[in-house]
Amino acid sequence: MLFGVDVGGSGIKGAPVDLEDGELTRKRLRIPTPHPATPDAVYDTIARVIDEQEWDGDIGVAIPAVVVRGVARTAANIDASWIGTNVRRDLERLLDRTVTVLNDADAAALAEMRYGAGRGFDGVVVMLTFGTGVGSGLFVDGILVPNVELGHMEFEGQIAEATTAARLVEDDGLSIDEWGARVDRLLERVHRMFSPQVIIVGGGICKRFGDFSKYLSVDCDVVPAALRNDAGIVGAAVAAATAAI
Ligand code: BGC
Repeated sequence: MLFGVDVGGSGIKGAPVDLEDGELTRKRLRIPTPHPATPDAVYDTIARVIDEQEWDGDIGVAIPAVVVRGVARTAANIDASWIGTNVRRDLERLLDRTVTVLNDADAAALAEMRYGAGRGFDGVVVMLTFGTGVGSGLFVDGILVPNVELGHMEFEGQIAEATTAARLVEDDGLSIDEWGARVDRLLERVHRMFSPQVIIVGGGICKRFGDFSKYLSVDCDVVPAALRNDAGIVGAAVAAATAAI
C-alpha cells in the first residue's frame, strides 16, 4: 500500500492505494486548492491531507506541470512560482519521508495502464486527459515516456488545450458536438504523429463519452478511461512504489 496525492486546480485529493488492485483502501479526502496556489500553500494542504488520512509512510504526488527529477519546469494552469521549484526536495524536508513527484497526466496514464483501460496493450499507447488543460501520457511497451505535453503542441493556430480543454464545455458553454469535432481532429493529429494502437480519453468529461464518441473517426481504438476521478491518486501511488519516474 502507498499513498497518492493529486494536486488539481480546484482540489487536492489523497488516499492510500492498494497496489494489488489499484483500489483506494480508504475514502479519498479532498481539500479545496488554496488560492493563490503557490508551492508553500499547496505543500501545507498536502500535509493536511496526509495528516487527516493518518498516513505516515512514503507518498507520490501528481502535479499539473512538467517535472524533471522532482523539479517543476512549467506552470500552465498553476501559479508561475512553481517553475524551477524543487518540489520533491521541499516536500521531503517538510514531511520527513520519501516523496515521488510526477506530472498529473503521467500519473493518470500509469494508473490506466496498470489497472484500467490500457491493460493488456503493448506497443504505443497515448492517453489524453481533458480538463482545465489537456494533459498527455505516452507509453511504449508499458514504459512511460514522461512529460510529453501534447496539450501544448501547436494545433490549428493555437496550443491544443486552448481549443480542446473540457473546461470549454464544462464552464464556457461550448457544445459537446463542436468539442467532439475538435477532439476528433486532435486525435487524428496524434495518430499521425505516433500511430498508437489505442488512445485513452480521460478527464471528468469521459463520463460523457457516449455523447461525443460518434464524432471520433480516427483509425485506432479510442477508449474512455476506466478509473475516472481516482486515476491521479492511484498513479501517484504507483509511481512512488515503482520509482517509474
Ligand atoms: C499542463 C500539463 C498537465 C495538464 C493537465 C497542462 O496545461 O501543461 O502538464 O498535465 O495541463 O493538468
